[in-house]
Amino acid sequence: MLSTIINVLVSSVVLASYMDPGACAQYYEGKVLYEWLDVEYDWLSEEMKNQYEADGRYDRTHSFISGVKAFKGIIYLTVPRLRFTTGVPSTLNRIIQKEKSSVLTPFPDWAAQELGNCNALQCAMSMEVDPISGLMYVIDTGRSGVFGNNISGQPTPVICPPKLVVYDLADGSLVRSHNFPEDLVSNTTNFLNDIVIDRGGPGCKTARWIYITDAVDSKLVVFNLVTNKTHIIHHESMDYEPGDGSNITVNGVSYIFETPIDGLAISSDFEYVYYCALGSKKLYQVPSSVVRQEGADFASKVRLVGSKISQTGGMTYGTDNLFYGALIKNSVYKWEVTKDAQSKGGNVGLVELDTESEVVRDDERLRFPDSFTVDENQNLLFSACNAEKFLRGTIDFSGAQGPNFRIWSVNISESSYLAPRAGACPCSLG
Ligand SMILES: *[C@@H]1O[C@H](CO)[C@@H](O)[C@H](O)[C@H]1NC(C)=O
Ligand SMILES: *[C@@H]1O[C@H](CO)[C@@H](O)[C@H](O)[C@H]1NC(C)=O
Ligand SMILES: *[C@@H]1O[C@H](CO)[C@@H](O)[C@H](O)[C@H]1NC(C)=O
Ligand SMILES: *[C@@H]1O[C@H](CO)[C@@H](O)[C@H](O)[C@H]1NC(C)=O
Ligand SMILES: *[C@@H]1O[C@H](CO)[C@@H](O)[C@H](O)[C@H]1NC(C)=O
Repeated sequence: MLSTIINVLVSSVVLASYMDPGACAQYYEGKVLYEWLDVEYDWLSEEMKNQYEADGRYDRTHSFISGVKAFKGIIYLTVPRLRFTTGVPSTLNRIIQKEKSSVLTPFPDWAAQELGNCNALQCAMSMEVDPISGLMYVIDTGRSGVFGNNISGQPTPVICPPKLVVYDLADGSLVRSHNFPEDLVSNTTNFLNDIVIDRGGPGCKTARWIYITDAVDSKLVVFNLVTNKTHIIHHESMDYEPGDGSNITVNGVSYIFETPIDGLAISSDFEYVYYCALGSKKLYQVPSSVVRQEGADFASKVRLVGSKISQTGGMTYGTDNLFYGALIKNSVYKWEVTKDAQSKGGNVGLVELDTESEVVRDDERLRFPDSFTVDENQNLLFSACNAEKFLRGTIDFSGAQGPNFRIWSVNISESSYLAPRAGACPCSLG
């Protein structure tokens, strides 16, 4: 059977909407921008595809879409080599239009995707784009099959150093590649999962620190872009909760995800970092100043802000609010951080999670919202990728249950945390 692509461009069709029951009723319209049954790539030739299929480098049932970011009208997607050690031809991609369908083309090129070549990407779960510099920061676990080395017939992955790779989106050039020290980020167990950029303050124009969650080794990895030094932070709040906390029921099926710190966000003034374990509903806040400084007293500064309505994979901060997936609700939710801080005299350092509301929900099409970003037009883009089924091997690639992977867009009327802030105080860092 030829691999089937179901790809519908429905930019004018409203698939889901929701009326916020709050005082200032807010109306959101969610649209599915792209949907696919399986991931199809922009092969250089039919021979290339046949060759990749023959030698196992391509297996259409091994690819699922996770990370999503957008810049200047181009959407970038990761296909993490998570469950299988081989069969995913390209881990970092952008969407292009080819004839009547939308396919993934490797970014920056095929060479950058080569398995077993430690100069290339091995498994990219996520990335972040700095819209001021136009640089993309990509995290690479350094090995394929993070969750799947046990599946019989899969080759043993080549172990490469986990790394941060920076590309200039203007021309796809490699700006820098930094290997993390092996004593801080394990090259055999890490799952570098989510990433945010910290500029140090709203008036600052350059990326200064990178924070990354490690969703197997339960730590926050902090990389200083100026000194090139890395430090790691572990705290028990980053661990999953055994029992109900890590029991995620999606459409009547329960999945146990004993997965620690996963979702990550930083406020638009870069003052506070937020994170949650996948296997917990609890959301934590810590001042960025504590994260930036190696050896700071994290335990006395980290704060539980509350429990979300659901466990969450990914999250992102807009200007005033935190947006996150609500996995058990087939929804995206919003926590009104700035509004809730008003009842604490405007002190965000005391805020509690009181006002959370549904932004968009769709029980059919919005399964496992995983990765989030806000584009230059105030659209919240996210992937809905059936990860729970993909990772458990129960996803249906026959087409009988419709498309598996979707990219959604919702106009949220607020900008990304990384959008330049007009009238912000001058950057106080050198
Ligand atoms: C592999 O299987 C063993 C035993 O069944 C299990 O303990 C381990 O967690 C598995 N490893 C992965 C990466 O799934
Ligand atoms: C992986 O880390 C181990 C130490 O834990 C080190 O001995 C080995 O050289 C590393 N491998 C690579 C490819 O960096
Ligand atoms: C950090 O790394 C960058 C890119 O490799 C390099 O240009 C810079 O000189 C390094 N800075 C320090 C302080 O080592
Ligand atoms: C997970 O939760 C569901 C629904 O509450 C329950 O039926 C199931 O037994 C739980 N699974 C475990 C392993 O606790
Ligand atoms: C987004 O929504 C706001 C508020 O409803 C509206 O004013 C704005 O025009 C919308 N933007 C786009 C691009 O549709």
